[in-house]
Amino acid sequence: MTIINGKEVSQKLKDDIAAEVKENGYTPGLAVIIVGDDPASRVYVNNKKKACAYCGFHSEEYALAENTTQSELIALIERLNQDENIDGILCQLPLPRHIDEKAVIEAIAPAKDVDAFCEADVGKVMIGNYTFSPCTPAGVMELLKYYHIDVSGKNAVVIGRSNIVGKPMAMLLLHADATVTLCHSKTADLKDICRRADIIVSAVGRIGAVSADMVRDGAVVIDVGINRNSEGKLQGDVDYEAVKEKASYITPVPGGVGPMTIAVLMQNTLKAYKNNKKID
Ligand code: GUN
Repeated sequence: MTIINGKEVSQKLKDDIAAEVKENGYTPGLAVIIVGDDPASRVYVNNKKKACAYCGFHSEEYALAENTTQSELIALIERLNQDENIDGILCQLPLPRHIDEKAVIEAIAPAKDVDAFCEADVGKVMIGNYTFSPCTPAGVMELLKYYHIDVSGKNAVVIGRSNIVGKPMAMLLLHADATVTLCHSKTADLKDICRRADIIVSAVGRIGAVSADMVRDGAVVIDVGINRNSEGKLQGDVDYEAVKEKASYITPVPGGVGPMTIAVLMQNTLKAYKNNKKID
């Protein structure tokens, strides 16, 4: 069994980006917006800013109060859409309940939507011809590539149908020629479906969602879940200790998929910069 080291792979991707930026004197700029004080979002935003500094990017943080109105937030995005020093705009989700996430996402100029959350980008991912990669699913694909895990013709089961992870994950696996089953909370016989899987990607957001009896010997198990257990420690969806005895490859939490999401965000921001500056 191999434990997939997301920290190592993401480090390599960020090193490649940092080298390209330094060598060419590029100045990509990322604006990160956070509304309210959700502790998990704060950690993610800090990590994204740190990654920007590491890669040699310019980053700007906009920390807005919980009671910011939707029109104030959209006015900020519209200003950043016009700002030539900003190539990517990221609004950390979730947003407070009084703000319509969809309206906010759609306010970001598609050329700066480095999260690839807007409808146009999601549609392009479905077709398979896209500029910005959906960060977490593309991070998973990078891990599979790095470990030479062949996806073509394999049975891949994705658990969770969110717009951010489950749906685009299914599309990327499909584009890589896997036979994909997309499961969710209403799926009947989840255990049987998972037991036929060569690759399981869990994006449920619930501790214990994938137990050892759902995994066949030799399966590849990718855990996208980031949950806090009763002791406040980070834990994935997968019953890691038991499942690692059966899996051929498994991602830990933390240190698996998480760092990859940020590495792909950096790739997307560099891409946005090059597109905006018309660099090949
Ligand atoms: N919330 C959870 N994951 C993400 C992400 O990848 N991007 C943004 N903007 N918000 C998130």
